[in-house]
Amino acid sequence: MKQLWIDCDPGHDDALALLTSIAHPEQLSILGVSTIGGNQTLEKVTKNAQNVLAFVNAEIPLVKGEEGPLVKPLSTAAEAHGDSGMDGPYFGENTYPLVKESFLHYMYKTISAASEKVILVCLGPLTNIALMLKTFPDIREKIEYISLMGGGITHGNITPLAEFNIYVDPEAAQIVFRSGLPIVMSGLDVTEKAEITVEEIQRLKGKGKVSNLAYELLSFYNHSGRQFGFVNSPIHDLCAVAYILQPDMFEGAPHTVEVITDDGLARGLTFADKRTNVTMVKNTFVLDEVNREAFVQLLIQSLEILDNK
Ligand code: BDR
Ligand code: CA
Repeated sequence: MKQLWIDCDPGHDDALALLTSIAHPEQLSILGVSTIGGNQTLEKVTKNAQNVLAFVNAEIPLVKGEEGPLVKPLSTAAEAHGDSGMDGPYFGENTYPLVKESFLHYMYKTISAASEKVILVCLGPLTNIALMLKTFPDIREKIEYISLMGGGITHGNITPLAEFNIYVDPEAAQIVFRSGLPIVMSGLDVTEKAEITVEEIQRLKGKGKVSNLAYELLSFYNHSGRQFGFVNSPIHDLCAVAYILQPDMFEGAPHTVEVITDDGLARGLTFADKRTNVTMVKNTFVLDEVNREAFVQLLIQSLEILDNK
């Protein structure tokens, strides 16, 4: 049994990653979920997380994290995720509880008390995680590795060079990449290959309560993705969870990854130092290939499991 902490900014793809991880209680124990201002404001992404967790009657502690980045103001991704941050489905009211304690103390306390090392799953800007690593450096001993969606070795999306999650808070990302903890990076190199086709999205319609929720999420997300040139929909964040469940569906290589924090065109760029004559620590396993069919199958089956609960 693997123990996880999930930090996220739902977000259509965050929601699908959450649902998939919840569908496998025999493999994954989710100790807690924290939210971070990213795709939308903290208030909105927290509401979205409550909606997703309530929809499947989850009983996972949910704690609200930081409103925005360490240094610069928050820039959101409303053009991709809509005004709510997760446009598409209608959720009624719910009273999914929020942990009242500060997220830093709650996360630290929970991870410290875990019976085994914990995998941190990071699906948004890395602000919460950087703060935890700085405030409680001893937490490192309780972290097995970080599976994150962020960055891209060959290109960006929010700018030509930077991917959104890293671009929003590069200072936090730099702290995480320099933390000495092992990182598995699902960057754009792999996540843009982890796409679901329009036809596959259509097949989810009316199939079951949770599959249909995914259909509604993906219909909006597919439509908004057209403006960025996508015909099919890359489910970026799901890669970070799929890797934990089925690492064999991915390929990658270890690299020394750094983050550019300078202002200017390269802000938020992640790069892999590919020199072979240096002894730098290869801090990151960079994923760059995925078996797309197996990836989509994992999603479809996970939704079916939740449909039948
Ligand atoms: C990342 O940015 C967000 O919009 C998505 O949720 C994903 O985490 C992709 O660049
Ligand atoms: Ca996200």
